[in-house]
Amino acid sequence: MSEPFLIGDSMTGGYGKGPDILHDCTIAVDKGEIAVIVGPNGAGKSTGMKAVFGMLDVRSGAVRLDGEDITKLSPQARVRKGMGFVPQTHNIFTAMTVEENLEMGGFIRTDDIRETIEQVYELFPILREKRNQPAGELSGGQRQQVAVGRALMTKPTVLMLDEPTAGVSPIVMDELFDRIIEVARTGISILMVEQNARQALEIADKGYVLVQGRNAHTGSGKELLADPEVRQSFLGG
Ligand SMILES: Nc1ncnc2c1ncn2[C@@H]1O[C@H](COP(=O)(O)OP(=O)(O)OP(=O)(O)O)[C@@H](O)[C@H]1O
Ligand SMILES: [Mg+2]
Repeated sequence: MSEPFLIGDSMTGGYGKGPDILHDCTIAVDKGEIAVIVGPNGAGKSTGMKAVFGMLDVRSGAVRLDGEDITKLSPQARVRKGMGFVPQTHNIFTAMTVEENLEMGGFIRTDDIRETIEQVYELFPILREKRNQPAGELSGGQRQQVAVGRALMTKPTVLMLDEPTAGVSPIVMDELFDRIIEVARTGISILMVEQNARQALEIADKGYVLVQGRNAHTGSGKELLADPEVRQSFLGG
């Protein structure tokens, strides 16, 4: 079998000199696919994402993107390689306008970013309407659109989203998932953490259940949704 487009392979490590949080943890996503990471609070989902993005040193294991070992690269260097990341918190500049947030997102670009801003507005029309408003004044769902839009500004090949639907209503969640599917259809790989496990696994090509920093269950979204143990322990039966 060929290697996934992006893989954090058997990652073990933690924060600074602290204890290991990840234990031989593997998460991966294929080209244009959606991979979803679920698991209880404190399971290490965000830590796994940070490890893949280079925000924490892995003691062992590796991260490879399109076959290249990027384990030693800084997050900034990974962005230049085509990775976009939307963290779980503090993912927008609240005092800046929507459009300024998008412009900031394109900071590494030296070419014309106008076309990409247009693409973001086409994906999230409400952001065009609110483009001159401070992002901090927007609703939760709209802020998440700003955060995703900002990450799209570097024209990533893989987009990593840590709980993109946190704190939004079920209707807004469905809309966000639809937009995320739309992004994946353009060929961008999506690796995301989700609290709404059932709904997220429904749209996932691949799913990972993490428990205490370890891979507890891995499979297609459908397989995990059908697995009695996963249902019982993580999906509420
Ligand atoms: N910056 C940090 N420094 C030290 N320990 C941390 C740090 N961030 C998280 N941890 C610890 O790492 C473990 C995993 O946390 P993490 O945030 O990765 O979990 P999570 O699965 O994303 O949880 P949640 O569902 O609440 O977002 C926890 O024990 C947490 O206390
Ligand atoms: Mg988290």
